[in-house]
Amino acid sequence: MHVVVTGGTGLIGSHLVDRLRARDDEVTVVSRDPTGGDQIGWDPDDPGSLVLPDTTDAVVHLAGAPIVGERWDENRKQAIRSSRVQGTQRVVEAVEAHGDIQHVVSGSAVGYYGDRGEEPLDEHAEPGEDFMAQVTQVWEAEARRLEGHEAVDVDPARIRTGTVLAEESGALPEMLNPFGFVKPFHWGMGGRLGDGQQWFAWIHVEDEVRAILHVLDEGLSGPFNLVAPGVVRNEQFTEALGEALGRPTPFPVPEFALRLMVGEVAEVLTASQRVRSDRLQETGFSFRYPHIRPALADLLGEEDAVPEERDREPEAALA
Ligand SMILES: NC(=O)c1ccc[n+]([C@@H]2O[C@H](COP(=O)([O-])OP(=O)(O)OC[C@H]3O[C@@H](n4cnc5c(N)ncnc54)[C@H](OP(=O)(O)O)[C@@H]3O)[C@@H](O)[C@H]2O)c1
Repeated sequence: MHVVVTGGTGLIGSHLVDRLRARDDEVTVVSRDPTGGDQIGWDPDDPGSLVLPDTTDAVVHLAGAPIVGERWDENRKQAIRSSRVQGTQRVVEAVEAHGDIQHVVSGSAVGYYGDRGEEPLDEHAEPGEDFMAQVTQVWEAEARRLEGHEAVDVDPARIRTGTVLAEESGALPEMLNPFGFVKPFHWGMGGRLGDGQQWFAWIHVEDEVRAILHVLDEGLSGPFNLVAPGVVRNEQFTEALGEALGRPTPFPVPEFALRLMVGEVAEVLTASQRVRSDRLQETGFSFRYPHIRPALADLLGEEDAVPEERDREPEAALA
């Protein structure tokens, strides 16, 4: 299969590209700053700038300006929104122009659901109302322009991804090393965010990539929540992180302090999202890291720290 990956230089994309190549799929990476070889360029703001190679079978669309890591001023919010809306418009145009693409997997996020307390969230749940919920709705709406298209026969899958846990970048290094050399969790000064009761929907990067390949290989369409079955409350995640590091986590960060530190992006960090991935599992996908402690032990280098965790029920893993 020849797979074109936008955002193939990013966290999820680079893991996906490695995995595709390892199984001998052909890969073309789409980047704003291509380095030659099997990378091609595009400008998400420039209609017609994405041209898919003739031999393309599938497109995985993962490009988008980073959500966390910077304060959300108006420019930042505009970049988060427009990079996704316009980037998806370019992908849809390119798929229409090509005319013979078999599969499209389009990025999305559990941010679609907003802050929902204790409510279990499957793919039928209504969208939320906050900034990221609004962004993901328009982002998905652009991808859905391919559904029932009169000229091209491809129904896109929309992957509503939870926080991806990986060693080298993304949420985990941000938490462990939030301000340069300051490492609160390593120093035994970490703690839960807000009251710690919010549900945290996460996925190990290896399962994220395995799930994308599953969606591609099975030719699935529509929305899929990509989150581990063992969704945990923030205080449980914090406890597991402390255990993986062998450090206590006694210092909670109150919500107002978090807002002072990071601004409006705090709403992403404190949103409660009890997301369920039953639909993905019903299509035959099984998670390698369904529970948080083995996932963190794997990522933080302490394999087999709590192997019995794998056998427990989802959501009861840390009870
Ligand atoms: N990581 C997570 O925890 C997570 C959770 C939920 C959803 N997602 C979504 O999944 C997708 C991939 O996530 P990721 O963590 O792999 O992202 P990432 O590491 O930030 O990489 C995304 C890629 O998007 C491109 N990009 C950055 N800014 C852009 C802009 N302004 N316009 C167009 N392209 C831009 C970059 O590629 P070039 O520089 O090569 O152009 C970058 O490599 C994103 O849409 C993200 O929102 C991620």
